[in-house]
Amino acid sequence: MSSLVIYFSRSGENYFGGELKNIEKGNTEVIAEYIQEFTSADLFKVESEVDYPEDYMKCIDVAKKELEDDARPEIKESLDDISDYETIYIGFPNWWGTLPMPMWTQLEKLDFTGKTVKPFVTHEGSGFGKSLNDLDRLCSGAEIKKGISIPGANVYEAKDKVNLWIND
Ligand SMILES: Cc1cc2nc3c(=O)[nH]c(=O)nc-3n(C[C@H](O)[C@H](O)[C@H](O)COP(=O)(O)O)c2cc1C
Repeated sequence: MSSLVIYFSRSGENYFGGELKNIEKGNTEVIAEYIQEFTSADLFKVESEVDYPEDYMKCIDVAKKELEDDARPEIKESLDDISDYETIYIGFPNWWGTLPMPMWTQLEKLDFTGKTVKPFVTHEGSGFGKSLNDLDRLCSGAEIKKGISIPGANVYEAKDKVNLWIND
């Protein structure tokens, strides 16, 4: 049975160790593509119907409000059925200590019973935050394996680490 990567990632302005930089590809997407390369998994990118601001500070505010409102933002395309897959890699940036809200919109639509979930996060210092607890609820019925946490600034040096984790 094949694997699937469900992930969220934002390009645009981002913060790297004290400096704002514009990136064309989001950090989490870099990791998602490594996983695809190593496992031939299918990739599914969760995208909010309304794009997040490119401006980092504005994006921070929008995301904070969504979290406070416990929002479920509409997503451009949604996945309804994962019955063909055994292992689901779930990747996201740490946003305010948890998963970006569009991931909640998507994951709540799926039945994880009997699935193996391998979580991965990119972050600026807080690792998974409380997202693993949230994933327990969002992926109820799945066996959640050890996750991998990668600082956003290090994604281009993390390929070997990702490979080891996949086979762990
Ligand atoms: C809205 C927002 C909130 C964030 N909150 C946190 C946080 O609470 N802790 C943290 O370590 N990093 C935080 N970050 C940094 C991101 O997790 C980090 O830059 C990540 O690698 C971005 O991944 P992406 O490029 O795939 O979107 C935040 C970034 C954004 C845009």
